[in-house]
Amino acid sequence: MGSVDPEFTSPICEFKPLDPEEFRKQAHQMVDFIADYYKNIEEYPVLSQVQPGYLRTHQPEAPPYHPESLETILEDVREDIIPGMTHWLSPKFFAFFPATVSSAAFLGEMLCTSFNAVGFNWLASPAATELEMVVMDWMANMLNLPKTFMFSGTGGGVLQGTTSEAILCTLIAARERALEIIGIHNIGKLVVYGSDQTHSTYAKACKLAGIFPCNIRAIPTTKDTNFTLSPVLLRKVIEADVAAGLVPLYLCATLGTTSTTAVDPLAQLASVTNDHGVWLHVDAAYGGSACICPEFRHYLDGIERADSLSLSPHKWLLSYLDCCCLWVKNPALLVKALSTNPEYLRNKQSESDSVVDFKDWQVGTGRRFKALRLWLVLRSYGVANLQSHIRSDIRMATMFERFLKANPRFEIVVPRLFSLVCFRLKPVNGCDPSYTDLLNRKLLDRVNSTGQIYMTHTIAGGVYMLRFAVGATLTEDRHVIAAWKLIKESADALLKGNYA
Ligand SMILES: Cc1ncc(COP(=O)(O)O)c(C=O)c1O
Repeated sequence: MGSVDPEFTSPICEFKPLDPEEFRKQAHQMVDFIADYYKNIEEYPVLSQVQPGYLRTHQPEAPPYHPESLETILEDVREDIIPGMTHWLSPKFFAFFPATVSSAAFLGEMLCTSFNAVGFNWLASPAATELEMVVMDWMANMLNLPKTFMFSGTGGGVLQGTTSEAILCTLIAARERALEIIGIHNIGKLVVYGSDQTHSTYAKACKLAGIFPCNIRAIPTTKDTNFTLSPVLLRKVIEADVAAGLVPLYLCATLGTTSTTAVDPLAQLASVTNDHGVWLHVDAAYGGSACICPEFRHYLDGIERADSLSLSPHKWLLSYLDCCCLWVKNPALLVKALSTNPEYLRNKQSESDSVVDFKDWQVGTGRRFKALRLWLVLRSYGVANLQSHIRSDIRMATMFERFLKANPRFEIVVPRLFSLVCFRLKPVNGCDPSYTDLLNRKLLDRVNSTGQIYMTHTIAGGVYMLRFAVGATLTEDRHVIAAWKLIKESADALLKGNYA
């Protein structure tokens, strides 16, 4: 208990929210807790089995008035929080696209958090800005991007939180460029393009950017072309819009779509967008990471003709959420659209135009020193290990694909390009297609309800299919083999009687 302040009747508070020695002790305790979580993660059901609202009954109505010990809090994490987690880091997680992690990124995150630098402009934290510039150029180098996207050339890159923000910022830059020419009152004429496979976040970004919903074109794709965006169709749609007096603005092409990892033909699409002065953005959130391996770099062919590119190392390059790289060819357009210049942030360096102020490249003002995370990953593992990590995931996906191909009950629905396998139970002879869908839905439910693995589904071209995405950092061959065994046995049980 502290001494008594004569002005008040209550004791003087000796509350120290950051006591270095206490921090050292508790941080060690926390690291032990986390390491044990990682070590035992296989034991938890991958997909949480709790019911909605479960936590409210376990937690008090109000926060504690008196402090509680870390031991007590961690006990609640064990008892109440972990059971309500869907374990994205489980080696048996094959859903969506994995969110990858690593020791190096964790350590980088610790450093980032410990400095708590709010590097909105260069002066607020010169190292944060300059390291981000270095890391963005390193990443560009690994992807063999042209110099036009690099600080060492004529462009540059910035770390965003998510692809959504990357698309929003570039879309606003493109919009501002266009409105300067056609006048703000003509915003209703701006048209944006994508395919019916473009991630839904694109439509959200378009709405946020003030694009009229009737001017958002989702060009249909088909199974015949593996759900890629057709440059011929794009040209037709754009020409029809121009003929109708509208103004084509922006195309979001995808390198590795979310449903089936389709890769849009960038070079051919660029011919269309360049002809019409349309901003070409490439969303390579997941698939882009594979392009650090020379054998997959061809998916980026044509990138030299795009205006911007985004790629999320948190999806496949071991970097923890949130980490989305955005490169732009013409940073001045971003800055022009997004810069602010309040008196309280003014400083000599910014005004001399000799520095980068990343607040002008993003939605918010405050920003974390996230480059540390990626810097630690790149330095600790080196490009060689990151390439083997990508190749190892692809090898495991290929192994899973082989299991499917050898079993007459299953079919691969779209050719596999990366580490996602899209498959389904084959249609049963003479049965309605909706029955095949139903069987596959049942299979997914059956498999996921065991808690032993977690997979998700999609529908493309009207076909319901299961997605098996390999890539969780801790996944090994044995997990893929066990997953296949479970899927096969569940299918056997489900199909008893359906096949002769
Ligand atoms: C191709 C693609 N684009 C965009 C997104 C959305 O990313 P974010 O959540 O970072 O906005 C995803 C998510 O899986 C994706 O696969």
